[in-house]
Amino acid sequence: MPPAPTVVRTLPSLRRALERLRARRATVALVPTMGALHEGHLALVRQAKKRASRVIVSIFVNPTQFAPHEDFGSYPRTWKADLAKLAEAKADLIWRPDVSTMYPRDFATRISTEGPAMADLEDRFRPHFFSGVTTVVGKLFIQCRPDIALFGQKDYQQLKVVTRMAADLDLGVKIIGVPIVRERDGLAMSSRNVYLSNEQRARAPALYRTLKDAAGRLRNGDHLEAVMSDGARTIEDAGFSLDYFEARHAETLSPAGSLKDGPVRLLVAAKIGDTRLIDNLGV
Ligand code: PAF
Repeated sequence: MPPAPTVVRTLPSLRRALERLRARRATVALVPTMGALHEGHLALVRQAKKRASRVIVSIFVNPTQFAPHEDFGSYPRTWKADLAKLAEAKADLIWRPDVSTMYPRDFATRISTEGPAMADLEDRFRPHFFSGVTTVVGKLFIQCRPDIALFGQKDYQQLKVVTRMAADLDLGVKIIGVPIVRERDGLAMSSRNVYLSNEQRARAPALYRTLKDAAGRLRNGDHLEAVMSDGARTIEDAGFSLDYFEARHAETLSPAGSLKDGPVRLLVAAKIGDTRLIDNLGV
């Protein structure tokens, strides 16, 4: 059995643990998560271990990034399995605060970002989301003072928003995006995939297939508008209710009219039943 990582649940114990890490002149990586860990998260931890001498993983299901009608209450919480996976992955420290530590009574501060947070993608459908993410990630950075922090590219807009925030606020942390980890049939790994029924799970890889097909057609010179409208139809025909299927500049997230506006990233969000899935692919 690998040694269990140190688990800290209060700010004073986090400070003491960080002092011990820093005393050894360690470079520190932070992997922020909401738990329910899967291979995608473990890829972040593995990357973190390559790039830093100590790895902190935070586990906090952040209420401020969920709207009242969303799944905060039912979001999977799998602490024992998460701990075993992080021991196996040899994380050094788990920061697992409770809600009252992160948001004490009378908490009244929000970090709000513009630029990539207003790209008319996730923000159009989840207007509350990014200020919740930036507020909690900002707090995690201030609490843990990492040298680097790693985020999955599956939440592509989130990665851009957090990168912008860290630069704008001089937080002194380098943000690293890690490629999406997929199931064998192409479905992007997500903690929310457990919500899918067998039938929905069988249909879900249509998102990645459509992204791949569209990227291939664009590379072959097909007209972007036609490719995107064919892709949107394919996703709906597979039983999804589509929020967006968009071609954007991979850095600025501004709309792309052709590959000449590139580098181009294709981004999709769609619901199957009650479960909303997102995915993206570089062209
Ligand atoms: O991507 C996530 O799991 C969350 O949005 C994050 C970055 C941990 C903030 O709560």
